[in-house]
Amino acid sequence: MEEYKKKLIRDFVWLRSKINFDFIFNKDQFTHDDIKRYYKKTKYLLYRLVGSNEGYMHIDISDDGIHKNGKNYQTYHVNKIDEIIKQNNFKNILELGCGQGANMAYLAKKNPSVKFTGIDLYPSLDKKNRKYNISLIEGDYHNLEKIESNSIDFVYAIETLCYSINKNQIFKEVNRVLKKGGLFVIYDAYLNKPRKQLSEIEEIGATLVENGYYLDEFEYIGNIDNYIKNNNFSIVIAENMKNKVINHLYSYQNRIKKYFKFGIFFKLFCKLIPKEVLGNIVPVYFMANTIEMNLSVYYCHILKKEK
Ligand SMILES: C[S@@+](CC[C@H](N)C(=O)[O-])C[C@H]1O[C@@H](n2cnc3c(N)ncnc32)[C@H](O)[C@@H]1O
Repeated sequence: MEEYKKKLIRDFVWLRSKINFDFIFNKDQFTHDDIKRYYKKTKYLLYRLVGSNEGYMHIDISDDGIHKNGKNYQTYHVNKIDEIIKQNNFKNILELGCGQGANMAYLAKKNPSVKFTGIDLYPSLDKKNRKYNISLIEGDYHNLEKIESNSIDFVYAIETLCYSINKNQIFKEVNRVLKKGGLFVIYDAYLNKPRKQLSEIEEIGATLVENGYYLDEFEYIGNIDNYIKNNNFSIVIAENMKNKVINHLYSYQNRIKKYFKFGIFFKLFCKLIPKEVLGNIVPVYFMANTIEMNLSVYYCHILKKEK
């Protein structure tokens, strides 16, 4: 068996000896209410406490792929997006799945004359993130009816479309609201092969990450090209970011290992926290394995609306 698969099994056995995460395997489809509840329960205990105080809810990236403790790698996405806004002089921007609004807050401050709109099932912006040039829609990004056709210069989505099992509908809606020549940027994770071709171990690896994040199924990366073509987009950039994320993902795994050095105290803490928070330890731990073994991929797509 390949070394990475053996490592996944070893890591599974180790983490399972520390915490009971069997509930992760018992799931039906997640509803929008499930997703909202997950983000409500994890906002402070997880994303703020161990993630980012500013409210970013995405993984760290760096161009050199090096991880140094204590450095902030969470503004990578927004700095790239900021470059795109400035290069193209975009004025009207939409963020899909804006979450706590940290991305928009950062960009709105740097681009005070640009209008930002964010849509999320649970847009949980702090007061400090509510800037005058940000407006919010509480809703589902499969339906952008509150936004006029051909009105937006630029749409971006960071680690949120993975929650959709109907991405073609999102591409259709984004095409409708974008002006011709407008850009659509997506940072997200996918499966690297069709679901049906996963081995039993790979299926377990994918399920651990998906269910811990309350998402139904990572989509096969090969399907994305169809949504792009079917909805009249062209590809400006499609970048596999494995080398830019892998060391950061391993740093999360190492951090979790360190927490368990607190022994009985951390085990007790794990017994007390809500299952949404406990379950999150699992995908955060295993993301490094699944990307390393090329079961999952993390991509940046920059797409252009052709017509
Ligand atoms: C991992 S968080 C990313 C948040 C934000 N993009 C960021 O980078 O900080 C995923 C977000 O997607 C939102 N989401 C999931 N499904 C959605 C849907 N159908 N419509 C709108 N938002 C959705 C969740 O509520 C959550 O805020």
